[in-house]
This record gives sequence, C-alpha cells and structure tokens, in this order.
Amino acid sequence: MHQPLERSLSALDVIFTRRSVRAYTSKQIEPATSRSLLDVAVHAPTALHAEPWAFVVIQDKATLARYSARAKGFWAQEPGHYRDLHAAGDLAMAEAFAARFASPDFDIFYDAGTLIVICVKPLGPFVAADAWLAAENLMLAACALGLGTCCIGSAVPVLNSSDVKVELGIPPEIEAIAPIIVGVPASRPAPAAVRRKDPQILSWT
Ligand SMILES: Cc1cc2nc3c(=O)[nH]c(=O)nc-3n(C[C@H](O)[C@H](O)[C@H](O)COP(=O)(O)O)c2cc1C
Repeated sequence: MHQPLERSLSALDVIFTRRSVRAYTSKQIEPATSRSLLDVAVHAPTALHAEPWAFVVIQDKATLARYSARAKGFWAQEPGHYRDLHAAGDLAMAEAFAARFASPDFDIFYDAGTLIVICVKPLGPFVAADAWLAAENLMLAACALGLGTCCIGSAVPVLNSSDVKVELGIPPEIEAIAPIIVGVPASRPAPAAVRRKDPQILSWT
C-alpha cells in the first residue's frame, strides 16, 4: 500500500519551499514512501512517450559509505574539475568543495538513509531530460511529504563504473543519470537561503 501524498501545500508552495537538504536524522523512510516517490517520478513528462527510466534504491549504510569514499577518491584525482564545474569565476566555492571532498569525515550522501538513482535506457536524444524531469517530480513530492532531498551529481561517475553497475544490477546499456538522496531532515535551509538571479529574458515578442 503506497503512502498517500500530503496535499496541504500547493504546487507553487512546494516549488518555492524545496531546498537541497544536507543534514538528516537517522530515521529511515518507509518502504511505501520510497515506492510512492518512484510512482510520482514516472508521472513526469517523457519525450516520445519512451518512459526510459529505471531505478535503483540503496538503503544499505555500508554500501553508501563505500560509494562515498570511492567518489571522494575519484574527485581527488580530478582537481581541475572543481574549477571547471563551478559557476564561472567562483573559485572560492570551487576551493571550498575541494576541501570538503578531502575531509575524511565528509559523506557525499550527507548521512541520508536512502539514495534513489534514476537510470535511463538509451531510447533517443531526450532520455537525460526525462530522467531529470522525473528527478524534479520526486524531489517536489518528497518536499510535500516533509522529506528532504538533494541531487548528488558527484556520485555519477562511481555509479557508472562497471563493477558498481554489476553490484547494483544495472545492465551495461543502462546509465545512471540522477542520484537523489532522500531522508528526514535534521535541519533544512530557509526557502530564501538560496537565492536565484532574475530570469534573463533574451526576447519576448
Ligand atoms: C545535476 C545536479 C547535481 C548536483 N550535485 C550535487 C552534489 O554532488 N552535492 C551537493 O551537495 N549538491 C549537489 N547539487 C545541489 C545543488 O548544489 C543545489 O541544487 C544548488 O546549490 C541550489 O540550491 P537548492 O537546491 O537548495 O535550490 C546538485 C544539483 C544538481 C541539479
């Protein structure tokens, strides 16, 4: 039986309330809740009705700790990425990320109890878009349920290494695209804590 979704927040409330959560309690989410989030994810728009997604759910703490350590090792060998991947000119942020990844105590999954990995089958040019639309559905629904989420892009290279794919039952032709941690927030940023630039409008005719 899937847990019904909390409907007290409007869609707009949820969009403006969701923030990446990076602190979690040790409380694990119910299996029915994880399942509800997958059901929500597959209701995302999907190009050519391909529904290319497939999911991996990891709740084993030792497995998450192992993947976190591997990801940190991967990024430590790729220091140029920190500069290249961050917003142009934001060297301070890039260096802060590098320092965090070098810390032995840092868990790239922020001690969240659940990692949902949205994978895609190669069914055309829009499969990555489909995966990320599914990810946003999942994150907004989790927010409506009072749960926290955060995309963990830094896990993608490890999740797509051939031995990890075998371990997780991901066939060679399927690719891990969107890893999302889910859990009960220990604290959450205020909705206004992360600001956005005004939309840049190139033309409006
Ligand atoms: C594709 C993608 C990858 C991301 N990877 C990470 C990550 O590896 N670690 C992390 O802490 N946050 C990650 N984030 C979260 C962003 O840092 C966050 O969305 C951004 O700072 C805006 O904050 P907000 O989500 O609270 O609005 C990622 C977000 C996206 C969309």
